[in-house]
Amino acid sequence: MGPDTLPLGTYGGAAAAAALLLWAACVLCRRRRKTGEPPLINGWIPYLGKALIFRKDAFKFLLDQQKKLGDIFTVHIAGRYITFIMDPFQYVYVIRNSKQLEFHEFANKMASKTFDYPALSKGKFPDLKENLHRIYQYLQGKPLDIISDHMMKNLQDIFEWKCSQATDWETEKMYKFCCSVMFEASFVTLYGRVPAADGHKVISEIRDKFIKFDASFPYLAANIPIELLGATKKVRKELIHHFLLQNMTKWLGGSKVVQARQDIFEKYELLGDYDKAAHHFAFLWASVGNTIPATFWAMYYLLRHPEALAAVRDEIDHLLQSTGQKRGPTYNIHLTREQLDNLVYLESALNESLRMCSSSMNIRISQEDFVLKLEGNQEVVLRKGDWIALYPQILHMDPEVYEDPKEYKFDRYIENGKKKTTFYKAGRKLKYFLMPFGSGISMCPGRFLAMNEMKMFLFILLSHFDVELAENKAVRLDNSRMGLGILLPDVDIAFRYKLRSLRN
Ligand code: HEM
Repeated sequence: MGPDTLPLGTYGGAAAAAALLLWAACVLCRRRRKTGEPPLINGWIPYLGKALIFRKDAFKFLLDQQKKLGDIFTVHIAGRYITFIMDPFQYVYVIRNSKQLEFHEFANKMASKTFDYPALSKGKFPDLKENLHRIYQYLQGKPLDIISDHMMKNLQDIFEWKCSQATDWETEKMYKFCCSVMFEASFVTLYGRVPAADGHKVISEIRDKFIKFDASFPYLAANIPIELLGATKKVRKELIHHFLLQNMTKWLGGSKVVQARQDIFEKYELLGDYDKAAHHFAFLWASVGNTIPATFWAMYYLLRHPEALAAVRDEIDHLLQSTGQKRGPTYNIHLTREQLDNLVYLESALNESLRMCSSSMNIRISQEDFVLKLEGNQEVVLRKGDWIALYPQILHMDPEVYEDPKEYKFDRYIENGKKKTTFYKAGRKLKYFLMPFGSGISMCPGRFLAMNEMKMFLFILLSHFDVELAENKAVRLDNSRMGLGILLPDVDIAFRYKLRSLRN
């Protein structure tokens, strides 16, 4: 009997035996813990290691490992070895060690693949990364005031256009509402107004494509080839095309930060038109990808907690009164940076929702084999190429730091009427207690603008409208982007709004 005539069962048996051999070889060759290295969790699936269980519920997985192995351990996840540092008192030793623990290599690889621009290699694009970082100054200090003023104006224009007819209750889905207002206001503030008569329509088309792309973001971040993600590749290409120079030059009144990025890209001949557009698209994603869900949660929690809503609205009304400003049909409110800063109840409520919905993993890559020195003479041996990760969601939900961490307490970040910035664990003051914007070298450059934007959105909403939930259903965190930033809600929920009477 020749090979052509072997019964199917024999082929199946041979294939199973080969697979078993391959699996055994992988298991035998897998990494073993060396002296001084943290406890190692390999998993039994070759290459994937613990990827599946981590992806299913990273928060629970990490807590379980911490209980078993302590505050430092290494996990094999999708071909990477990631050492998690769970003790917040040790965060500082990772954050300040930016020489041996690098961030940009990771961010560069992931972002260039996700947003389809060439990696920022030093040889091809000398100093491009540094030049782009320098531009973040336009999101701080005096330029921050200017861009925040523009955002406030644009938000008010959009509220006026969208909601000023609401003399009786209007019902909308909350996530959709936040997305539509925040996307358009951010877009116009950063990139400019689309001057066509149907400018709103053009932006809403870009937004709809953005939502489609964003739904695939967790898969792209998990390194799944875009070709396997249905229409995502086509949608991304279309989105990037919107940012080609010939389109961007038509937009009016954009921001200094985007203009400065454009000027820098022009200096790099090796950067093609499509590549520059892809960089602009990536910046758009960074500026709204987290802000939209964060705005949703801030609004949702306020509406779920009437005492919080009343306190925040009271603070807002008081500010309007004390500055002689009137909410009214003209939507002409101006807020200085100091006034925004002094809204302690609004800020506390916002911080509390950020604490509950943020799940970003702060990653660094070890540049060499070395010994990371930690507090209390502790040391960890790390190998070149290993990832080191902080996972602040664990800190945000730590009952030793935050009493009843699953409960929304809008005034958690207020003490004696002022901002509360001291939090303790085991009787010791924490340097890091709230980290939705990352840490150290990789900290979000748009964090001040993001906080202002969300405050301004809530300010306009609560000062002009009566708002309430129109459905009584639980909205939970959708865990599919755990580790990647602000989590989305698992379902949308209806709310209603109506213009407040000008008399009260
Ligand atoms: C609630 C809103 C926001 C949250 C929670 C957030 C969070 C973050 C986090 C955690 C990172 C670091 C990612 C990492 O470590 O890999 C980051 C990076 C970044 N964010 Fe934000 N962000 C927000 C809003 C914004 C806004 C409004 C802008 C700009 C207008 C912005 C621009 C950026 C940029 C450009 C980076 C990459 C920085 C780099 O090149 O290293 N973000 N953000």
